[in-house]
Amino acid sequence: MNRREYLQKFVLGGTVLILAPSVLESCTKNNQNPFENPNQPPSGKTITLDLNSADYSILKNTGGSKIVQGILVINTGTGYAALSSICTHQGCTVGYNSTANKIQCPCHGSEFSITGSVITGPANAPLESFPATLNGTTLEIKT
Ligand code: FES
Repeated sequence: MNRREYLQKFVLGGTVLILAPSVLESCTKNNQNPFENPNQPPSGKTITLDLNSADYSILKNTGGSKIVQGILVINTGTGYAALSSICTHQGCTVGYNSTANKIQCPCHGSEFSITGSVITGPANAPLESFPATLNGTTLEIKT
């Protein structure tokens, strides 16, 4: 091996070794779990919704629903349900079907009751549920 070959092999190889950690680190930071929904409900917070505002007035109607900060809020007719909007199967965003009175996931067909329990898989864990209290026209959800 002459000097030129030596430099090509070891200097270039060393460069690759020096750059490798930064490349790997950048991949690690950018490779999020593909099943992790970025709209997770906050934890340890109180969310207050003014049902008189145009943004939340749909929640005054029985069967009305809206996703707020990763929480699916439903007017059940007898009160309010507040559940994580993140499917426990692989993290898709679920929605409320008022006709069927079920929460459904568009990705693989899981269905949940309005209490969050699994009706149909493939999800096998319930949706997280949060207490929701109505005071006048203000709905308070504790996460
Ligand atoms: Fe909801 Fe698969 S992510 S059923």
